[in-house]
Amino acid sequence: MGCDTLPYPQTLLPLLMRPKTKAGFRASKTAPRWWRLRLQISGWLEDPFASFLQDQGIAGVEIETEESQGISVLVAYVESAESLYGLEGALRGYKCSLEDLFGRSVHCHWTVEPLKDEDWREAWKRYFRVNRVSQRFVVKPPWETYEVQGHEVVLDIDPGQAFGTGLHASTRLCLQGIEEILENPRLPHPRTGLDVGTGTGILAIAMARVGLEQVVAIDPDPEAIEAAQHNVSLNDVSERVRIRRIPVEGLREGEFDLVVANLTGPILRRSSHVLRRRLSPNGILLVSGFLEEEVEAVERPFLRRGLKLLERRSDEMWCALWMKCGG
Ligand SMILES: C[S@@+](CC[C@H](N)C(=O)[O-])C[C@H]1O[C@@H](n2cnc3c(N)ncnc32)[C@H](O)[C@@H]1O
Repeated sequence: MGCDTLPYPQTLLPLLMRPKTKAGFRASKTAPRWWRLRLQISGWLEDPFASFLQDQGIAGVEIETEESQGISVLVAYVESAESLYGLEGALRGYKCSLEDLFGRSVHCHWTVEPLKDEDWREAWKRYFRVNRVSQRFVVKPPWETYEVQGHEVVLDIDPGQAFGTGLHASTRLCLQGIEEILENPRLPHPRTGLDVGTGTGILAIAMARVGLEQVVAIDPDPEAIEAAQHNVSLNDVSERVRIRRIPVEGLREGEFDLVVANLTGPILRRSSHVLRRRLSPNGILLVSGFLEEEVEAVERPFLRRGLKLLERRSDEMWCALWMKCGG
């Protein structure tokens, strides 16, 4: 079968309808955050497909049934609707490349379903283990044990109903950015931090754990606030991290040396003036949560407000920008 004749997977479209904003990032009632993907493939390709899913950042891949009639079923859990959407394109491309490589048709069909909260809790427990996200940061659930090595910083994260496990590329980009900014001798050393859209509190906790003295974490979502409070105390940083239930638009006070905002392209664009005002004179802004095609639109309002671009980073299809005040 030629690649251009591939059937378009109809299963994803009605469920996903390409969220224009990262609606899947909200723990909203209408957009479930976790999805189960069941992938039916030719049994002889079980290992390549399992590795492929892992390369796409999927934390756990399970073989649901033993191979029968030459078909295997892989089950994977995906965090956020947009990640699932990106996976659809990647799977189609991978199927094509395998067909080109082997010169024969490859069976590859999938279905997706949103996970109910109870299922998601179980999936999370099964698949979220110890996860190294950068040179120093290791994220783990509280029920796993891990022996810290050298300069590692271990973050204990219990997500509750909030976003921020460290498995999503946008969170990883932020954690890597925080680490590198702190280690870069050419950048001013931040003492105060602001985490905008804190979710589980993961980035605020990371900033506090690598030495920032005072961190403010904000989020309008009550479930995020609950999870963040729990995680802040789990990580013993309650004295350094203050959590507030407000949206970025309501942030009217404070100046911070390092502002990290993992939101969405549209929210970042429309709150660029608020974020700019919250930066101290030598402050650094790290934003993520948008796709490669949005980079220019996201950076434009910040550059117009006098920020200098330090770095553009990407991971899978997600991007991050580091920007700086002053010269
Ligand atoms: C992508 S998650 C980021 C979570 C975590 N900081 C991380 O990096 O994994 C985005 C978070 O922003 C919050 N959020 C949505 N709209 C917001 C707004 N207008 N102002 C501040 N936070 C917002 C959501 O509730 C969600 O917890």
